[in-house]
Amino acid sequence: MMLDKARRLIVPSARSDVPPFIVMDVMAAAARIEARGGRVIHMEVGQPAASAPQTAIRAAKAALDTGNIGYTEALGIPALRARIARHYDETHGVAVEPERIVVTTGSSAGFVLAFLSMFEPGDRVALANPGYPPYRHILTALGCEPVLIETSAATRWAMSVDALLDAHRDKPLKGVLVASPANPTGTMMRAQALAALVAAAEGEGIRFISDEIYHGLDYAFPAETAVKLSEDAVIINSFSKYFCMTGWRVGWMVVPEALVRPVERLQQNLAISVPTLSQIAATAAFEGRDEMDNVKHGYEENRRILVEGLPKAGLGEFLPVDGAFYLYADVSHFTDDSFDFAKRMLEEAGVAATPGIDFDPQRGKRFIRFSYARSAADMREAVERIGAWLSKC
Ligand SMILES: Cc1ncc(COP(=O)(O)O)c(C=O)c1O
Repeated sequence: MMLDKARRLIVPSARSDVPPFIVMDVMAAAARIEARGGRVIHMEVGQPAASAPQTAIRAAKAALDTGNIGYTEALGIPALRARIARHYDETHGVAVEPERIVVTTGSSAGFVLAFLSMFEPGDRVALANPGYPPYRHILTALGCEPVLIETSAATRWAMSVDALLDAHRDKPLKGVLVASPANPTGTMMRAQALAALVAAAEGEGIRFISDEIYHGLDYAFPAETAVKLSEDAVIINSFSKYFCMTGWRVGWMVVPEALVRPVERLQQNLAISVPTLSQIAATAAFEGRDEMDNVKHGYEENRRILVEGLPKAGLGEFLPVDGAFYLYADVSHFTDDSFDFAKRMLEEAGVAATPGIDFDPQRGKRFIRFSYARSAADMREAVERIGAWLSKC
């Protein structure tokens, strides 16, 4: 009786019924092959193989030795907020008041804080398709409506002003979120294109969110920050990618003055504060930029190996490889089922990659995402294995 009652009580909410992240399933399949003694080249996970900057690790060790790791202010430790503000001056020549910086538990928590502080349930928020799946899943869980905007080669696979305004005319949008460099495409928006999109959105009263998590990893041309373009835009960033600190779970936002206090109240209630050790490490991470630039040079070499090698191996069609550490390859020559293609490539060639359907349920059936955040030797071996496998397909 009691058990029956408990079962009835714990029916999961409809809002928690978000789709899984398919890349996790690929990782699990790769792990099963490795457990049997097989070797897999991991190109599925979007995470750097390198370690965090030594400056960050040393700072964390010293802090740990004090034995006193308490809560911090909800918006983050002042030294880190000031250091992030200085980063905008150093890197982009733009002054930002430290008061507008909010430290977050990775950029992932930044999305939750941004969406909660900017939107009401039912609000429509435009996202580029293909795109990072958690954007749409977090919006859905919060009761907002993700509006997918198709992208094409004509705009370097970024959202165009026309497409945004068309969607807005269709039914009003409350917000728009873009990322440049983007995941999964690895493509970037030129500075003028980003400026035009910000101006068009704000001209219509559509709030702009810029996910700049892959800043610092730009190869084709420099990435532009929305901090420079609007004081009303919300910028989300992270120590996960350029600084190789995925597991430290620390990121930041730059928010308009009007959102500082609402975001502070939300953070106080949702998290109290961001892990203290991670904040201390992150403050010191900025002094490890030389080390991180070397890691970036490694990605540039990987990019060169893939851009030259994949066409010879048989995968000649991919989107411009501008930034982040992703290459989005068109495999429609071989299949219209990228999930099956990725599964066979893993089982038969020992190369793990992510099917495009994770990022774009429809057109993603024709695409595979490769992550090139590991060693150059791995990239060379991957190209060889893919070439040998495709020649037999
Ligand atoms: C585009 C994009 N945004 C945000 C994230 C979340 O990263 P984190 O929460 O580690 O900062 C990722 C992770 O892969 C990503 O690719």
